[in-house]
Amino acid sequence: MVSSRLLFFLSAIFLLTAQAVAQTADFLYHFCLNDNGNYTANSTYERNLNHLLSSFSSNTEIDYGFYNSSYGQNSDQVSAIGLCRGDVNPDDCRGCLNISTSLLKQHCPNQKEAIGWFDHCMLRYSNRSILGVKETSSIFYMSNVNNASSANNADKFNNDLRTLLESLRSQAVAGGSLRKFATGNATAPEFQTLYALVQCTPDLSELDCNSCLVDAIQRIPVCCNNKKGGRVVGPSCNLRFEIYQFYNSTAAASPPTSPVAPPVSPPPPLTNTNTTKGSERNTSRTIIIIIVPIAAFVLLVISFCVYFRVKRRPRREKLETVEDDEIRSVESLQFDFSTIRVATDNFSEANKLGQGGFGDVYKGRLSDGQVIAIKRLSKNSGQGDLEFKNEVLLVAKLQHRNLVRLLGFCLERDERLLIYEFMPNTSLDHFLFDPIKRAHLDWQRRYKIIGGIARGILYLHEDSRLRIIHRDLKASNILLDAEMNSKISDFGMARLFLLDQTQGNTSRIVGTYGYMAPEYAMHGQFSVKSDVFSFGVLVLEIVSGQKNNCFRNGENVEDLLSYAWKNWREGTASNIVDPTIRLGATTEIMRCIHIGLLCVQENVADRPTMASVILMLNSYSITLQVPSQPAFFMHNNIDLETSRLMQSTWVTKSDERSKGDSVEASRNEASITELYPR
Ligand SMILES: *[C@@H]1O[C@H](CO)[C@@H](O)[C@H](O)[C@H]1NC(C)=O
Ligand SMILES: *[C@@H]1O[C@H](CO)[C@@H](O)[C@H](O)[C@H]1NC(C)=O
Ligand SMILES: *[C@@H]1O[C@H](CO)[C@@H](O)[C@H](O)[C@H]1NC(C)=O
Ligand SMILES: *[C@@H]1O[C@H](CO)[C@@H](O)[C@H](O)[C@H]1NC(C)=O
Ligand SMILES: *[C@@H]1O[C@H](CO)[C@@H](O)[C@H](O)[C@H]1NC(C)=O
Ligand SMILES: *[C@@H]1O[C@H](CO)[C@@H](O)[C@H](O)[C@H]1NC(C)=O
Ligand SMILES: *[C@@H]1O[C@H](CO)[C@@H](O)[C@H](O)[C@H]1NC(C)=O
Ligand SMILES: *[C@@H]1O[C@H](CO)[C@@H](O)[C@H](O)[C@H]1NC(C)=O
Ligand SMILES: *[C@@H]1O[C@H](CO)[C@@H](O)[C@H](O)[C@H]1NC(C)=O
Ligand SMILES: *[C@@H]1O[C@H](CO)[C@@H](O)[C@H](O)[C@H]1NC(C)=O
Repeated sequence: MVSSRLLFFLSAIFLLTAQAVAQTADFLYHFCLNDNGNYTANSTYERNLNHLLSSFSSNTEIDYGFYNSSYGQNSDQVSAIGLCRGDVNPDDCRGCLNISTSLLKQHCPNQKEAIGWFDHCMLRYSNRSILGVKETSSIFYMSNVNNASSANNADKFNNDLRTLLESLRSQAVAGGSLRKFATGNATAPEFQTLYALVQCTPDLSELDCNSCLVDAIQRIPVCCNNKKGGRVVGPSCNLRFEIYQFYNSTAAASPPTSPVAPPVSPPPPLTNTNTTKGSERNTSRTIIIIIVPIAAFVLLVISFCVYFRVKRRPRREKLETVEDDEIRSVESLQFDFSTIRVATDNFSEANKLGQGGFGDVYKGRLSDGQVIAIKRLSKNSGQGDLEFKNEVLLVAKLQHRNLVRLLGFCLERDERLLIYEFMPNTSLDHFLFDPIKRAHLDWQRRYKIIGGIARGILYLHEDSRLRIIHRDLKASNILLDAEMNSKISDFGMARLFLLDQTQGNTSRIVGTYGYMAPEYAMHGQFSVKSDVFSFGVLVLEIVSGQKNNCFRNGENVEDLLSYAWKNWREGTASNIVDPTIRLGATTEIMRCIHIGLLCVQENVADRPTMASVILMLNSYSITLQVPSQPAFFMHNNIDLETSRLMQSTWVTKSDERSKGDSVEASRNEASITELYPR
């Protein structure tokens, strides 16, 4: 074992290294933008630029942390913007911009347009007018390499982070014309406190600031899901979060300059920061990794020591308490049949909500007022009481904001009930396929619903402890909560009904005509990719507002998949878009059609995984592959050629990575794929 003296010594080295790095005066990141051309030495443009930059150090308006200026005439006019982080005092701000002015010119010796960022400020100049214009390219990410919380708390962490950032976003947007900046904290899993900051350049309109930050927040899954710290930084707005306080909230001294830190908790900001550029503009596609090798090594040694010295015992104790909890939860999940009978008024017709694949569904109200949904299973589930109980316990552990929550079960005589949270807005099909109610679903809502379904499926496929293939994804299994968030229902039914749940063949096909992947419908072969197929059908239905299996195009009834494919190939994809949302965000809609088509491809291995679907939905910087022809098995006579082709496709692990994604995507996907062995 390493002695505590050595530990202390190593941490001292670490702190010194960190200090040295902190004092290196270079940008976190900079872009020299070639698109806007180069200027030549001694040109008017250069003289104007020099004049402008020298005025930055001496100006007085900087007190608000924002400075804009332009100088020169016509094609030689230069505009510049300086922005300091909202909590930085005017002296530091001026100092930071002063360094930036000389540094940026050194880094980009003849580019007309350039941007550079420090922790405390940003400097931009260009030959075009940049004031009040939202800039969506030239964005970079940074993330701490360490995970903030264990895998089962990751969702919770990401959720808490998103909630915090959303609230800061609205504060910053409403900040006024001088400052659009907000900081805040929130509690995160594992007793951590999350600190975050968002900022727009104050010259943006509220609308532009909002959409810039919405976009930045959406990039978090690509950049830094469940990381101890991360930043999404662009010319018009930026966000940052850490699990320590990194901004100045009046009283507290700013942490980066504090040299005394307890040896056991090394300061996270300077550890090993991975900066990836996610620019849409084709500047140069490089990945910059700022590594502090010694620091990283020392950190590793320290973590090892700390892990073995401190964590070992408590960890074992923790496991035991978890088991206790599990035993207790069996009791709390079981409901009395009499309770449910009262709650549903003797399973009255009036309380019947509908009929699902596995039995009738009733609405009920418990004595404490809670409204529930009860699925009364048709009686032949084919397994014993104990097995049923065990499976319910496992399925009840699947908790995600995009899954309908299983609250419990009831087992009495031959009655088997499953009790779920009640969803006030019924299911997606009630809205989507109703010519009047459809109007409630504008594009924004539909897009949110698509994202929610995708995250729910990903959780079932990869993030939950059990690997669940849903097998019956369809619009009527997508329920909507009071805020019209989508939640998947009927997951895990295969577990409760004695169907084997691993990838394989099954003689009992549980899916629904129109959503089933051809290999599943015809050969009973299911895999995560058959769920991906159903997801693709759902996406196309959501975009078009039409059912796949009774799609109407004027007088003709054909199937949605072939109609979508035909139009997409002919460049007329807008034909399939529901007329009520034609005024929505066209690029987003087209991207969804594209993703939908990728998911319904005939070749199982060509369909993306849900993890890559989510990446594609979240990041426009990812180039999508060109889809191949979808499986047209909806036609009444399945042609033999097709079915023979499909028999030979079987997903293997190496097949599952799609090849065409950009750098960030494939890196991300590789790490997701590693979760597979199960
Ligand atoms: C501008 O200069 C950079 C190098 O300083 C060069 O890589 C780039 O090609 C030049 N661009 C144009 C448009 O001349
Ligand atoms: C730019 O001007 C300076 C003096 O004003 C001169 O020394 C230098 O040679 C000039 N450079 C070029 C490339 O013309
Ligand atoms: C800006 O930096 C230069 C050195 O790079 C220094 O001489 C000058 O005094 C600084 N100006 C201000 C206003 O800080
Ligand atoms: C900026 O410079 C580039 C290259 O010289 C030119 O193509 C572009 O039109 C200029 N932009 C403006 C707004 O003058
Ligand atoms: C962080 O979490 C991801 C996924 O949960 C896992 O693959 C990765 O190994 C973890 N990284 C570290 C450094 O623990
Ligand atoms: C979190 O923010 C609140 C204000 O919203 C502040 O009162 C509190 O001190 C902060 N907590 C920490 C630990 O910084
Ligand atoms: C930009 O600069 C102009 C002129 O220097 C000034 O009038 C204007 O208020 C500035 N705008 C902002 C948002 O600071
Ligand atoms: C429910 O049905 C049982 C018999 O099946 C009957 O005894 C009871 O009175 C009924 N309760 C209500 C509220 O109708
Ligand atoms: C969804 O349900 C909530 C709560 O019952 C209701 O206020 C809202 O109007 C419903 N939304 C739609 C579009 O029906
Ligand atoms: C599934 O069935 C096909 C024939 O339909 C057979 O070739 C294949 O080996 C079976 N796979 C498994 C895992 O049983």
